This record gives sequence, C-alpha cells and structure tokens, in this order.
Amino acid sequence: MGQGVLRRYAEYLPLTPRTPMITLGEGETPLVKSRHLVKEVGCDELYLKLEGCNPTGSFKDRGMVVAVAKALEAGSTSIICASTGNTSASAAAYAAYCGLVAIVLVPKGEVAKGKLAQAMACGARVLTVNGNFDEALKIVRDLTQRHPIYLVNSVNPYRVEGQKTAAFEVVDDLGDAPDYLCIPVGNAGNITAYWKGFVEYHRAGKAKSLPRMMGFQAAGAAPIVLGAPVAKPQTVASAIRIGNPASWEGALRARDESTGLIAAVSDEEILEAYRLLARTEGVFCEPASAASVAGLLKLARTGWTFQGKRVVCVITGTGLKDPDLATQQARGEFQEVAADLRAVEDVLLSLNIGVRAG
Ligand code: F0G
Repeated sequence: MGQGVLRRYAEYLPLTPRTPMITLGEGETPLVKSRHLVKEVGCDELYLKLEGCNPTGSFKDRGMVVAVAKALEAGSTSIICASTGNTSASAAAYAAYCGLVAIVLVPKGEVAKGKLAQAMACGARVLTVNGNFDEALKIVRDLTQRHPIYLVNSVNPYRVEGQKTAAFEVVDDLGDAPDYLCIPVGNAGNITAYWKGFVEYHRAGKAKSLPRMMGFQAAGAAPIVLGAPVAKPQTVASAIRIGNPASWEGALRARDESTGLIAAVSDEEILEAYRLLARTEGVFCEPASAASVAGLLKLARTGWTFQGKRVVCVITGTGLKDPDLATQQARGEFQEVAADLRAVEDVLLSLNIGVRAG
C-alpha cells in the first residue's frame, strides 16, 4: 500500500501535528526506461515519469493532497479552483474524500471530456465560464479574497510543496538528479515545484547534482517564450492552453538557475510525440504531457547533443483524459468484422501479419 505524499515526505513538507494525514494513494509513480525514443534522442538513458498513474490520472494529486490537508487543518468547508481540467478533477476527488464542497471553474467547451466527467462524478459544483483559463483564475482569486472559500490553484504555495515530491522520487529512483528534466509548462506551477524539489534535495545531500530544466510550451500558448501574455491562447493541448501563467517568475527562476530553457513546440510536434509515445513506448498520455517529449525530440533534431546524458521527461497526465483526441488521431484503425471465425481469419490474412491461409 502506498504511503501517500504526506507520510512519505513529511520531513520536507510544511506539516504540523494538526495536519490530517490524508491520502488517495498519490505519488510513487513509475519511472519507466525508454527503449525506442532513447535512440532517437541519442542520449544514454531516457526515463518517462508517469504522473498519469496518480489516483485521478495526473500530477495534480501530489499538490492537491497537501492543499486539501491544509484546508482541513484551517477548518475550511469548501475549496475552489480555476482549471483547464486536471486540477478540477483532482480537487473534486480530494474534496469528496474529505467531505468538502468543491467548486470548479472551467473554460466552456475547452476541457477534455474525461476531466469534466471526473469532476462531475465526484460531485463538484462545475461552473463553465464563458472565457479562458486566465479569466477564470482571476475570478477565483478575487472570489477567495471576498469569501471564506479555500483556493487550491497552484498560486497556493501548498500545491507547489506537494508537487515538488515528484523531483524527490526521481532522485530516489535514479540515485541522483538526471542531467536534463523535460516538462510541459502551462500555468508554470509544476516546473517551479520540480526545481524547488531538486534544489531542496541537493541541499539535503540527497542529490549530488542538479538537472537542467527544459520547459516546453505550446506554440500558440507560449507567453514565457514570447516574453508577453497571450490574450487568446490556442493549442490542441487544452491542459496548457494558458496565456498568462501565474507562476511565470518561478519558471524563469528554474530556467535561469539551472541553465535550462523554455521553448515552444507546435501542435504538430506535440501530436507526433503523442503518437510516438503510445506506439513505440506503450505510454498513452494526454497531448499536453507529450509536449515534454516533443521538445526533447525537437532539440535533438536541431543539433543538441545528449550523448552520455541521462534525461527524464515528465508525462503529466493519462491519455484516458482526452478520449476524443485519441480516437480522432487513430482514425480508421479499427475494422468491423462479422462474428465469424472465417471472417476474422480473412481480415488477418489481408493484414499480412503472419497468419497463414489454410
Ligand atoms: N500537463 C497537464 C496534463 C496539465 O493538466 C497541466 C496543467 C500541465 C501539464 C502544466 O502544468 O500548469 O503547472 O505548468 N493543468 C492545470 C489544470 C492548469 O488546471 O489542470 P503547470
């Protein structure tokens, strides 16, 4: 049984004797060694940190468990967030587990189906806002100034505290930090959290080195790369369709202190990585998650050399979150067949995959 993030990393978290040690089993996610993409990148070792294996299918659970524990400790009865989907699914689940009311604001028509289904199933009050994520976040920030509702977006420092535990796990698994850490960037809480985690573990003597932080935004939603907010962010990767990241400064610090970079990847590059991850590594993730691998492949193809290096890509959420995109990307790749042995045999023969006539 998993201990959960609060117990496993208690000494690194801002807990008090009154913090309830809740868990839905978050953390301890697999670090899977790549067998195929590693060759394309030309590095020594490439690992995929499968954050989609968290209880609600994304990395958000690490931070949410800490934020919700602190909400309970403070005596709050309701929590609120703006979200492109995953934060709302996570907030809804932890609120249900802890008997809190969850209110989630999501941009209308822009959230992947699986995420909305999760929030609704767990009983959250779902408000679809006629605007984008940045506008929804502004509203919840203002609301929580005026009303006693507990804010669980990553502007809440407890979210970042919880999310930094993913960096601890990477170091615990590898015995040191990797040379490079590739990660998608949306509201920029996660890159901020990973860097905080690596720095703290390094200071504590748990890691000998620090990684270079390589953040990737979608080209149509790349304010940090452009150096200015984007009023109408556009990308197929709806999770990172964000034009004015709340943790902008944290992302810049991670980039600069680690001598890393934050670059943009196109939707085509994201979708290529999305397909490659599923087909060559068996890792079915959501499109935003594929941005980390898309960015790494882009660097490798444009002259960066990763020879002798150890690289980790953070795969932030599961592909089941966005079934519409998955089926659309795989169009035409199933075939209807009669419920009949010969009919199935005939199809397999025509596929030329080793089934022989006779
Ligand atoms: N990947 C996924 C799957 C996400 O859901 C998010 C953010 C990110 C990457 C980017 O992380 O914002 O910390 O830079 N999702 C938020 C949400 C915004 O509301 O679920 P970030």
